[in-house]
Amino acid sequence: MAKLRHNAGMNREIHCDLPIGVFDSGVGGLTVLKAIQEALPNENLVYLGDTARLPYGTKSPVSIERYATQAAAKLQEQGIKALVVACNTASAVALAALRAQMDDVPVIGVIGPGAAAAVEARPAGKHLVLATEATVGLGAYRIAIAERDPVAEVREQACEMLVSLAEEGWSNGEIARAIVRRYLDEATVAVPDTIILGCTHFPLLKDTIQDVADDDIVVVDSASTTARVVREVLERGALRRNSDSPGLLRLLATDGATRFARVGGQFLGRELSHRDVELVDL
Ligand code: DGL
Repeated sequence: MAKLRHNAGMNREIHCDLPIGVFDSGVGGLTVLKAIQEALPNENLVYLGDTARLPYGTKSPVSIERYATQAAAKLQEQGIKALVVACNTASAVALAALRAQMDDVPVIGVIGPGAAAAVEARPAGKHLVLATEATVGLGAYRIAIAERDPVAEVREQACEMLVSLAEEGWSNGEIARAIVRRYLDEATVAVPDTIILGCTHFPLLKDTIQDVADDDIVVVDSASTTARVVREVLERGALRRNSDSPGLLRLLATDGATRFARVGGQFLGRELSHRDVELVDL
């Protein structure tokens, strides 16, 4: 009996040592990964960027769901204790399918935490969501905000070109400012209280967006709120790793290790080499 109990303890420890899987269509989700690393430095992490099929935001919901479930299956194969869908588009389209697929592995999306952060920043506020076509098409933030704050007003604006700017590393400067200004002009009926970065690529453009927008508009990104939710979910499930050693990070991509390292380094805030990135097939 004592041995059995000992084994159960050992198994739990081994389970808690498993990495948290983090997945995005590309490198944008590294902004969420970075926030998780900062909040939970002892956790092991495995990140998958489906760079071969980026962007998801212009694809149909059927394709996005297929891509997202394949990416999650790849992470499940590695052995993970939780899955973070660090992609707004995949969170908008496929969260229910992913939860069904992952059995008892908790699945955390970014839209709920992003909506919660905006509502917390400006209760009963006017929110402008910048996101991909697919996220806007499904009204994902409108629904998530209405659930938390029924009197809030929400306007959603598709900004596909901002994904390309972030991918190209052109997040600052006149071109970025002009494009951001154009999207804000198109979107803004009345001056919003918050601008929600409803795409994991957009935190790279946060300074430019804040610069173009009025000073008192709060620019909200979901990375740190998502990291907080990840911590809560792990604690609730007794899944926190019990170790003082820094967690390990594996980076997987479906295409272009060199490009992933170059662009991903900007999202992660440190230099990466193509040797840090393992190529995988889904
Ligand atoms: N990662 C996606 C998101 O957060 C943006 C890039 C894409 O369209 O794949 O919505």
